[in-house]
Amino acid sequence: MTTPARNVSDFLGGDHRRLDAILSAVEGLVQSGAFVEAAARFAEFVGGLSRHIDMEETVLFPAFEEKTGMANGPTSVMRAEHVEIRRLLGVLTSALALSDASAFSMADRQIHEVLGAHNDKEERILYPLSDRIAGGERERDELVRKMQAI
Ligand SMILES: [Fe+2]
Ligand SMILES: [Fe+2]
Repeated sequence: MTTPARNVSDFLGGDHRRLDAILSAVEGLVQSGAFVEAAARFAEFVGGLSRHIDMEETVLFPAFEEKTGMANGPTSVMRAEHVEIRRLLGVLTSALALSDASAFSMADRQIHEVLGAHNDKEERILYPLSDRIAGGERERDELVRKMQAI
């Protein structure tokens, strides 16, 4: 039996959903003052989101840039937003290490703003377009395989 072919939209969109759920759990833990557990779950979020960004920057974006010939288009905007997202991950990690609920919630609001808009753009434009221009079912599956190898 062969497994059904995968695509970028389902794979990375699903990863957005998985990561959102971890962040919600962290927020709940911070609200109940469980900073040690919150920090542990947040480390999982940082690891997952860093890998997600690495998969995009080292596999998906170069493939998109090669297919479209656009190196200064949507992928360069996404890369710049990744820099801001990574910065906020650092701020949030420090806030949790200091058990500082107000610093956490301030940076948490910011990451929701940035990440919400960022993920939305990827899911509405970049992922569907990447799937469309990949070439075919086999090429889409190959993109997912390469990302999973990161
Ligand atoms: Fe991204
Ligand atoms: Fe993404």
